[in-house]
Amino acid sequence: MEIKMSQRSNPDFQSEFLAKILSANVTPGLVTFAGGNPNSESFPVEALRTAADAVLKENGVTALQYNSTQGYLPLREYIAREYRKDGLNIDPSEIIITNGSQQAIDLFSHIMIDEGDCILVEDPTYLAALQIFHLYNPKIVPVELGADGVDPAQLQAAIEKHNPRFMYMIPTFQNPTGLSYSAESREKLAAIIRGSNMLLLEDNPYGRLYFYEEAEKSFSHYLGEQCVMLGTFSKTISPGMRIGWIVCRQKAILERMLNCKAATDLHTNIFAQMVLTRFLQDHSLEEHIAGNRVLYRHNAELMISCIEKYFPEGCKTTRPRGGMFLWVTLPDGLKGVEVQARTVQRGVAVCAGDPFFSERREVPHLRLNFSNYTDEIIENSMRIVGEVIAELLSEKRANINTAHGPKGEEK
Ligand SMILES: Cc1ncc(COP(=O)(O)O)c(C=O)c1O
Repeated sequence: MEIKMSQRSNPDFQSEFLAKILSANVTPGLVTFAGGNPNSESFPVEALRTAADAVLKENGVTALQYNSTQGYLPLREYIAREYRKDGLNIDPSEIIITNGSQQAIDLFSHIMIDEGDCILVEDPTYLAALQIFHLYNPKIVPVELGADGVDPAQLQAAIEKHNPRFMYMIPTFQNPTGLSYSAESREKLAAIIRGSNMLLLEDNPYGRLYFYEEAEKSFSHYLGEQCVMLGTFSKTISPGMRIGWIVCRQKAILERMLNCKAATDLHTNIFAQMVLTRFLQDHSLEEHIAGNRVLYRHNAELMISCIEKYFPEGCKTTRPRGGMFLWVTLPDGLKGVEVQARTVQRGVAVCAGDPFFSERREVPHLRLNFSNYTDEIIENSMRIVGEVIAELLSEKRANINTAHGPKGEEK
């Protein structure tokens, strides 16, 4: 028997890379900074157990029955209230609860992309979003990300040249770089987007995990309905519960997504939605997140100081003001993949920058996750990564010298 599978489901570069990251997470003894797990110490296990008991006791039959595709109304009401605190007038009817924001990216892509349509992404961007997009065969146009957001001139040119359907953007504590767009940059970019036919798909899993001052306002403040927002409880409460959402104020699009979600999974796990809602009713999310902010800020600052102490001269790092990642740029064209391969042999997993780019490969970048591990492990591991980078650099320089001779003459 010869089984044929669809071309579009062929594993892409990102899938293969992700498989490696996930397997690193389960290799015994390996310390991994390659993934994006929230610190499991922060999971409110006892409070969720109490919430689950209460749900089953008071509302067990509803929790175990089929429910609506759009999601549990009290949870949508809670999310709408949170947006209102940020000055956005969102109605619960404009929200769909999804299986994490990952499913929301997929639903949106499903209804927006016909094969060959153009979409824009930040370069670099979240690798698992690229994986989703690849399933729909769009033309993906990367727009270079700088310290203060994507390049406005490149964005303008890409819009004019390609008439894209949408741009996927993570403007706050971005994955993979940890960078955030300033208010001025948002305003400037929004003015460009406003003049186009494309929607902005704004992904914001990390916005509440700020270390110093609150994050900048959503693009929705500038773009209104042209901005579709994604959110998740994965980074603030628990990724295992798989609860995220999408806010879409254009009814026709929302209805298409509902239709698509109904066909895909009928609805998101109602028991989990009810337990989460009960937790949110009985506890302050703000207080719960406050502990994470302190821990992540501490870890980020420690990791940056270790990079400054142990990494060779010429290495640069971003200085995130929130979120879970920082982004290292290596000197002398050293490749992230070379560092990744060598540190694993020394018991430390890091993630090369390659899968976060839609096209560029062998890039001189590493993404490091700082949300886990104790001070001692972070310090010890960064020392090892620094040693590996120094080793690779001196090997590289020695090779250049042997190739060119001591006076730089070709041999
Ligand atoms: C930028 C970004 N978007 C979406 C997700 C998916 O999160 P969720 O668990 O809500 O599906 C992640 C997870 O790491 C992420 O970093």
